[in-house]
Amino acid sequence: MSLYDKIQATAAFIQTKIQNNPQVGIILGSGLGGLIDMIEKEAELHYSQIPNFPVSTVEGHDGKLVFGKIGNKQVMLMAGRFHYYEGYSMEEVTFPVRVMKALGVDTVVVSNASGGTNPTFKIGELMIIRDHINLFPEHPLRGKNDERLGVRFLDMSEPYNPELIAMAKDIAAEQGVEVKTGVYIGLQGPTFETPAEYKWLHTIGGDAVGMSTVPEIIVARHAGLKVFAISVITDLGVTDVPVKISHQEVLDAANAAAPKMAALVDALIRKM
Ligand code: HPA
Repeated sequence: MSLYDKIQATAAFIQTKIQNNPQVGIILGSGLGGLIDMIEKEAELHYSQIPNFPVSTVEGHDGKLVFGKIGNKQVMLMAGRFHYYEGYSMEEVTFPVRVMKALGVDTVVVSNASGGTNPTFKIGELMIIRDHINLFPEHPLRGKNDERLGVRFLDMSEPYNPELIAMAKDIAAEQGVEVKTGVYIGLQGPTFETPAEYKWLHTIGGDAVGMSTVPEIIVARHAGLKVFAISVITDLGVTDVPVKISHQEVLDAANAAAPKMAALVDALIRKM
């Protein structure tokens, strides 16, 4: 079956389980589950029930799609994403985004936990992603292009929607939440970075680094979707002095910041 046919089959299956087509797709990062409670839930599908969906394996990701409303918007939320470091192919990592598009989504909101490489950042702060640098070893659009999914040579001059960024900054100011804006560097992991790598990532223009998001954003843009993405800074790699970090610390910092991130994203979706 072609990728296109798989997407259509999965979307058709999901259509039989939901009443209303989603307008906004949300992808939640590690430890950032808080937003699920903001949804007036209409349906829930575990990944294992959905044809062609990979099954997620990482701790802190529970692996389901949640459908419902935030304000007057129909949303579809992925609780648990597929990471390249888990061994999924780029096609698997980005498959849910293509299904979102097939279901009628026009905007995606993506969250993640990341390591700050900008020395002015603090742990627990939010960073709106205004641009990215793709350091994944493989490109999600590599291979024969299916024009039904998007163009061969995709413009990436403005991947993150400037109106949504401006709106989110206004909302954060109203909510009294400090947000940074910066460049996210996506790489494969699963190791955290060495001190020299953090320093290099900042030198080449990165404010934060993580192991997700970039593939999904590329495919969302390929599909013509509007994109908003936001990071919680869960650790800092800003000195030559080695600082130990663990997945648990990342989850704890993300959990601590989850309520303010959820409040911001909730207000943004209502206002879109
Ligand atoms: N590096 C890479 N990925 C991450 C980090 C980090 O420091 N923190 C959370 N995800």
